[in-house]
Amino acid sequence: MAQQHEVTGRAGEREPVPVPARITVNGRQTPISPAPSHTTVLEFLRERGLTGAKEGCAEGECGACAVLVARPGVASPTDWVAVNACLLPVAALDGQEIVTSEGLAVAGEPGTPPVLHPVQQEMAARGGSQCGYCTPGFVCSMAAEYYRPDRRAPEPPSACAEHGPNGFDLHALSGNLCRCTGYRPIRDAAFAVGTPADDDPLARRRAQAPPAPVASEYVRDGGSFLRRSTLDGTLRLLRERPEAVVVAGSTDWGVEVNIRSRRADCVVAVDRLPELRELRVESDRIEIGAALTLTEIERRLDGRVPLLAELFPQFASRLVRNSATLGGNLGTGSPIGDSPPVLLALEASVLLADADGEREVPLADYFTGYRQSVRRPGELIRAVRVPLPMAPVTAFHKIAKRRFDDISSVAVAFALDIADGTVRRARIGLGGVAATPVRARATEAALEGQPWSVRTVEAAARVLSGEGTPMDDHRASAGYRSAMLGQSLLRLYARTTGEVSS
Ligand code: FES
Ligand code: FES
Repeated sequence: MAQQHEVTGRAGEREPVPVPARITVNGRQTPISPAPSHTTVLEFLRERGLTGAKEGCAEGECGACAVLVARPGVASPTDWVAVNACLLPVAALDGQEIVTSEGLAVAGEPGTPPVLHPVQQEMAARGGSQCGYCTPGFVCSMAAEYYRPDRRAPEPPSACAEHGPNGFDLHALSGNLCRCTGYRPIRDAAFAVGTPADDDPLARRRAQAPPAPVASEYVRDGGSFLRRSTLDGTLRLLRERPEAVVVAGSTDWGVEVNIRSRRADCVVAVDRLPELRELRVESDRIEIGAALTLTEIERRLDGRVPLLAELFPQFASRLVRNSATLGGNLGTGSPIGDSPPVLLALEASVLLADADGEREVPLADYFTGYRQSVRRPGELIRAVRVPLPMAPVTAFHKIAKRRFDDISSVAVAFALDIADGTVRRARIGLGGVAATPVRARATEAALEGQPWSVRTVEAAARVLSGEGTPMDDHRASAGYRSAMLGQSLLRLYARTTGEVSS
């Protein structure tokens, strides 16, 4: 049950008193209780008869569970954002508002079926659904792109494989899998949707702010899901409960809960803390709040950091990027996280906060072992700081079995300063070749001060192939990983000069 609970704040302050946890589903307020605190949004919906969202994989890879959440917008007060309901604890949506595939259609006259939403109509008319298992998820992802405020038909009219003549970005569907229809009719439906009518209720809803985050204290069956409204309150809570699992988008923790049946006595949500959601561009640095979603960072930076712009489309899927955060990707300490190689090459640092203050740690000193870091119990990542100016020559190579929505076998990020044909400075981040993400320091040394030439690059590529301690596993052999490291430098050289090494 939700606890009526007064949360003590900083001296003289009090956290708002949480009210019983509820969520607005398709316009109707629904109490979360009696769901256990680890219950996912997907389980919650299906137990209440809203069975449009399906479980395909329970780990964020198929999109059958997608629903729409009202979130702070980038180009309007509210964006309708598609997320994987299988990963998100329902308690994380206390006070929030969601729409499912059932809520997109509008009730018809008594005795007549509901009037389909425009994206549902296009899916039906163009044969975008056969068994229908994936369809509600596709429809929700498609609806989020349908309502994206800055979606515009290109002028003059044009289309490419990934963008429709209606401005539809096909990457919006990159997290949705279909096993029987085939993607061409689904793409046809996506590229045929128009723009929302003036009286479309979800389009109009974008003009108002999303529900404000609420302090939340959801305790049930021995587990608790807690959210404080301030950073100070959160840090004090983490000092009292250093064993708590800290979640933002829950894209990693949700997999642990579903696939490995992990449970936590205490989960603390940080995704709506204002101090973790700032993005500041200053003359000598860019500071990115640890709880901004990757989609928000991508849209707000709008290409200002080319290496990040290259990373984002390769980071999981749009559905995952709509929830995942940089703080989470660094917090898990995974050696194959996609962002660490890029952030290492950018010489980023992490700002770690606890109840006693804040410290800055270069990312190169942050990882200490397999899924281990210098982050202490009770500390959380507040922001990631990227120094300016950035190196002008950058590249990110993610070697994986699929082009999108896959886990890397090995990842390499380069940031090189090349002037007058000489490498003045080289920073190279690697993932998938050691127990932690690492800098390729021997290769950096082999490049710095040398001419940017085939000879230098071939020699440095041999050094790069020997960096780290890659292993054999089901994704790739150690030999393949080493070969790909060296190859990635040769590829960068070919891109910058047009020359191919022998
Ligand atoms: Fe597959 Fe959620 S069930 S992504
Ligand atoms: Fe059957 Fe997509 S319609 S899985």
